Amino acid sequence: MATTFVNDLGIYLRASYPIITIVSSEEDRARELIDELLRQEETAGRPRKLFVWTISRGLVDARDRPASKEDTRPPERALAFAAGYGEEALFLFKDFHPYLKDTSPGAALLIRQLRDLVPEMKGSRRTLLWLSPLLQIPPELQKDVTVVDLPLPAESEYRQVVEQAMAQARANPAAIVEMDEDAIDAIVKACQGLTRSEAENALYKAVVSRHGLAAQDVQSILDEKEQIIRKSGILEYTAAVENFSGIGGLGQLKRWLRQRNEGFSQKARDFGLPNPRGVMLVGVPGCGKSLCAKAVASEWQKPLLKFDLGRVFAGLVGESEERMRRALSVAENVAPCVLWIDEMEKGLAGIGGAGDSGVATRVFGTLLTWMEEKTHPVFVVATANNIDLLPPELLRKGRLDEIFFVDLPDAPARAEILRIHLERRQRATNDYDIPAVVATTDGFSGAELEEVVVDALYEAYSSPEKRLKTEHLLGSAHEIIPLSRSRASDIEALRQWANINCRMAAVSGEPEHEPDSATRRRARALDI
Ligand SMILES: Nc1ncnc2c1ncn2[C@@H]1O[C@H](COP(=O)(O)OP(=O)(O)O)[C@@H](O)[C@H]1O
Ligand SMILES: [Mg+2]
Repeated sequence: MATTFVNDLGIYLRASYPIITIVSSEEDRARELIDELLRQEETAGRPRKLFVWTISRGLVDARDRPASKEDTRPPERALAFAAGYGEEALFLFKDFHPYLKDTSPGAALLIRQLRDLVPEMKGSRRTLLWLSPLLQIPPELQKDVTVVDLPLPAESEYRQVVEQAMAQARANPAAIVEMDEDAIDAIVKACQGLTRSEAENALYKAVVSRHGLAAQDVQSILDEKEQIIRKSGILEYTAAVENFSGIGGLGQLKRWLRQRNEGFSQKARDFGLPNPRGVMLVGVPGCGKSLCAKAVASEWQKPLLKFDLGRVFAGLVGESEERMRRALSVAENVAPCVLWIDEMEKGLAGIGGAGDSGVATRVFGTLLTWMEEKTHPVFVVATANNIDLLPPELLRKGRLDEIFFVDLPDAPARAEILRIHLERRQRATNDYDIPAVVATTDGFSGAELEEVVVDALYEAYSSPEKRLKTEHLLGSAHEIIPLSRSRASDIEALRQWANINCRMAAVSGEPEHEPDSATRRRARALDI
């Protein structure tokens, strides 16, 4: 991955692109790769000078000596130096982005200077390279600036970092290093998604705090990832506590999801399977879509990131693009993970509509392209209650693996859902006439069935006996008017659309109970 970065950057430099920006907080790593590129260029007979600008030192050359007798710390002076420089060179600007904010004093002057510089730079084999953790391009310069992403380290690079940390720990006789091949693999995997320096920090923290390194340090590295997510603001790290055994019905969907989980392994890659992309769950409210999103993550033992699309588009639209990029890159940083976009249609309201200046459409386009091209194992679970508000291009194959329709539960699924919610409240299902309750709750959603149980518990609690009986359940079932009755035509329309466009999350006549996880484990051990 880093090689592609060096190649791409080399092509832009040779083509004399005037301004390139690398969005990354990994200064050291970027510098190493730039140095590697310059060495390659030199070997090929195309040497090029390197100057590095920082706010504290101004411009210095590759050997850290001031580029000029003049003070080049003010950015406009550094730019003037670059403009007047006669040879082929690369000017690496490290702390430049704060000056380009249109609210910063002097931004207008700098932008003017840059605009004048651009035509001079073209064809002169000189390039300005901005390295910054934020993408900040003034609109006047949009078309002259090329963005290059610095990819995260490849597996081999993380492995090096882990081996270095092990060597360092071993150098201390008091430290205990218990690392076999499996432990190294596990830690390398946990590091994936961190920047190199983040991975180094996390490992050294583990070494120092525990006086050694062992397989259990995976946890502290995962904690480090959680920190990164918190900082982004648009993503929420959700502790996933649900699992498939807490979801009644939806057998097809659960089976499909189990199968996809197998698709994340290296074995699956070797077999020729692509990384699973994601799934859209469309359906009647309260039937378990959000529940499934949460359950997938905990079943797969992967972090669950809830993506608040509404917040991407909220506030200043100009920043939406940056927010979207950052959120997606954080998700990639945390991969393998599940990215959950709940009630997607709400977050996308307004896109392409009258009030959209084009920014929202473009930002949404960024998401679509990412969904199609992503190479990191980020599994998207999107849910929607209303398809009319979903842009049709989202549902195109290639972006998601499948669209499932989550319908109202049929009789066997209702029995299962009632059992789940009774057992969750320490009531044994055998004590109740479940078939009778199932018969009176035709058209109830999972959420409404839960309401039946909770209401009945209240009734029972205020009764003299304080004991839950079937009649309490039947009583509350009669009281509750399900949404499917008040919104019958909406649901029917959704069902018709789903018949053509979706796979069914449940089919009638499917086995009432999934094999429990112990049975599944045994089956897997026997490879059946
Ligand atoms: N299939 C189901 N099995 C068990 N509980 C369910 C099911 N569907 C819904 N529920 C209950 O209803 C609540 C709301 O369901 P949710 O998944 O949020 O619905 P939605 O499809 O609108 O996202 C869940 O937290 C759960 O308690
Ligand atoms: Mg929901």
